[in-house]
Amino acid sequence: MDETAFARLIWDMKYRLKRPDGTPVDNSVEDSWFRIAEALSAVEVGGKRVRQTWSRKFAAALADYRFLPAGRIWAGAGTQRSVTLFNCFVMGQLPDDLNGLFEHLREAALTMQQGGGIGYDFSTIRPRGAPVSGVGADASGPVSFMDVWDSMCATIMSAGTRRGAMMATLRCDHPDIEEFIHAKQQKGRLTNFNMSVTVTDAFMAAVEEDRPWDLVFEGHSYRSLRARDLWDQIMRATYDYAEPGVIFIDRINARNNLSYCETIAATNPCGEQPLPPYGACLLGSINLAALVRDPFTAKARLDEAALEKLVPIVVRMLDNVIDVSRFPLREQEREAKAKRRIGLGVTGLADAFIQCRARYGSPESIDLMKRWFTRIRDQAYLASADIAAEKGSFPLFDQEAFLAGENIRNLPDKVRKVIAKKGIRNALVTSIAPTGTISLVAGNVSSGIEPVFAFCHHRRVLLPNGEAEEHEVVNHAYALFREKFGEETALPDYFVDAQSLAPEDHLKIQAVAQDYIDSSISKTINLPEETSFTAFKDIYSEAYRLGCKGCTTYRPNPVTGAVLSTKPEP
Ligand code: CDP
Repeated sequence: MDETAFARLIWDMKYRLKRPDGTPVDNSVEDSWFRIAEALSAVEVGGKRVRQTWSRKFAAALADYRFLPAGRIWAGAGTQRSVTLFNCFVMGQLPDDLNGLFEHLREAALTMQQGGGIGYDFSTIRPRGAPVSGVGADASGPVSFMDVWDSMCATIMSAGTRRGAMMATLRCDHPDIEEFIHAKQQKGRLTNFNMSVTVTDAFMAAVEEDRPWDLVFEGHSYRSLRARDLWDQIMRATYDYAEPGVIFIDRINARNNLSYCETIAATNPCGEQPLPPYGACLLGSINLAALVRDPFTAKARLDEAALEKLVPIVVRMLDNVIDVSRFPLREQEREAKAKRRIGLGVTGLADAFIQCRARYGSPESIDLMKRWFTRIRDQAYLASADIAAEKGSFPLFDQEAFLAGENIRNLPDKVRKVIAKKGIRNALVTSIAPTGTISLVAGNVSSGIEPVFAFCHHRRVLLPNGEAEEHEVVNHAYALFREKFGEETALPDYFVDAQSLAPEDHLKIQAVAQDYIDSSISKTINLPEETSFTAFKDIYSEAYRLGCKGCTTYRPNPVTGAVLSTKPEP
């Protein structure tokens, strides 16, 4: 099956609008683009002609897969279905009482049913064994409540053919943190959760200085252990089982554009969106691979003028999603409309590097990335300020507090001046999503800022009838190279894949990207199985030192195996 046929299969299964009996409404991908463009232009005021003008501009931005709205928008826009166009939610802060907890379970079920991925901080639940007044029993603790959420998720299949995804975080000072770290080591347990420990700056300092670490709940200290022992437990579990991830939560809050009016304790399932209680975010990615001209030649370059023209249009599209989308809960709608977060990112970065003949992680690639990301960030903030002048700033915009934020202080003066004059429509603007499915639809470009996973590999695709089918998938840049130079030509050394890169190359790219991204980044650092435990731990310390907001690694191992196989399974 060739690259385009596979892309078409995924589009047909996931995003093609069909009637309930299965008859297609979208006859082609162009029809899907037109449907999305029409739906997102519907909120423009000024009459039919204005709406038509925007619809044409939006459709042009979608053409040739240059802009890829996230999956929920592809699947839901213009369909009249009772689904949300938001990929990401963090649910309300969990109350520490049974009645309230089950009310939150209901909210989670409703959100998943409409297709949203959800994140939760379980740190507000009292630890296992703590007394429960009035019933003469002890508390069962956050991890046992996670089992309840896990069953709910398995039961409520998310909208369409997509399985539900959840994130659970627990603070590094919660008394049940050790149980949390090891919970997924029981086979079949908590399989619908990604898990991350929210690590504080105080904890990282205690590890560094080899100090004791108190586990506390509501001011009461339960016990103390060596910070280094706890860190080693987290690291060992991650080394052997690829979980839990680590989130540097103080950094997230310190750098949040909205630190003046919200506190963040959790992220969405893949980590690119740290959100406050009931926070919601929609995503969309510019496909950098589609903007490279004269690939593989000495003249190869990304069309920066086209990029700068594209950004304001797609910022407007994403901003419109907030007014078009349904919301599973009133609180989520209130949050989204008060802050108007959008998550504009990129995909196909590694393909764009290859097409420009730069090796992922090399100094040339870093220079290119800085140029491209500066343009995206600046144009996105300027566009959001322009929309504010026309439609109003986000309701919780506080000019003085916003301009004092760390990300905003680092913007070029000319951008800050425009924000000071016009305000800003979206409190947070940029984010790097995993683009797991949409990058396949766009001809299997590399995902987000990840390196190419493999130039050819096999993927199991779950068909709507429940059967799994194995497909060979060929990377976009590789296919383009073969088309131009034939099968016999040796691959130049800038063709590197995730398995052959050094961890430092992954880290460099993540850390540089983070400098330009106001929200967070979904990134997995792939490591060879033989990586030593010491080298493994160093990656996390380095991620912290370099200013990353979190760190996720994957080392193939006998317990979890490989996520995607590069060889057909026997
Ligand atoms: O490719 P697509 O736009 O469908 O999604 P993605 O970029 O791979 O994932 C973006 C976000 O969607 C994730 O971080 C999750 O919050 C959510 N998601 C989910 O809830 N369930 C899935 N099966 C996949 C993604």
